[in-house]
Amino acid sequence: MALAGGATPRRTYQRLAEPDGHEGVPWERVLLFFGDERCVPPDHPDSNHRMVREALLARLPVPAANVFRMAGEAQDPDQAAAAYEAELRQELGPAPRLDLVLLGMGADGHVASLFPGSPALAESRRLVCAAAGPRPGERRLTLTLPAINAAAGVLFLVTGEDKAGLVAEVLAGGRSDLPVARVRPDGEVHWLLDRAAASRIR
Ligand code: 6PG
Repeated sequence: MALAGGATPRRTYQRLAEPDGHEGVPWERVLLFFGDERCVPPDHPDSNHRMVREALLARLPVPAANVFRMAGEAQDPDQAAAAYEAELRQELGPAPRLDLVLLGMGADGHVASLFPGSPALAESRRLVCAAAGPRPGERRLTLTLPAINAAAGVLFLVTGEDKAGLVAEVLAGGRSDLPVARVRPDGEVHWLLDRAAASRIR
C-alpha cells in the first residue's frame, strides 16, 4: 500500500500500531510505499517518512526491506522521482497496481502532492514526479494520477469541518477541476470521514 502524509493519518497509524490495531496483518508480506514526500531530509519535521516512522514503523514488525522511502533529501527531485518509479516497477512489475492507496485531501482539493493547477496533473506516463508544494519554492515528490488510478483501491481519510463543503461537492460528482475529483481508479474508492467532514453530505 501507499501511505498518506500530512496530519490526519498520524492518529490512524498510531492506532494501527497498537496491539489490537493490526491483529492478523502479515506485515512480512506488506510492502509500504509513500504517496508523496516533501523535499526535505528524513529527519526534518515536515518529512512524511518521519511522521510514519514515529507513528507506525517504530512500533510495528514491518521488515525494513518492505518500506520504500521517497528520497526527499535528493538534490535533484526529478532524478529521485525517476528512481522511486523504478523501485515501484521493480517491486510491482512493469505496470504497478497498488492494492491500496491511502490519501488525505487538502481543503483546496489536493491529493498527495498534486495541487490544483499543477503541471503534474497532466502527467500521463510517469508514475512518480517532482511537483511544486504550496509554499513558494517548496518541492515535493508525488505519485501521479496514472499511478493512483491504477490502484485496486483508494481510501480517503478526511476529517474536519473545513473540508465538509468540498467533500459534499466531490461526492455529489462536482469539482471535476480539482485533483481530488480526478482520483477515479478502476478499483474501489472508499471515504473514511469524521462527522464534521461528512456534515454537509445530503
Ligand atoms: C502531505 C499529504 C497531503 C495531505 C493533505 C491533507 O504530504 O501533506 O500527502 O496530501 O494528505 O495535505 O493533509 P491533512 O491530513 O494534514 O489535512
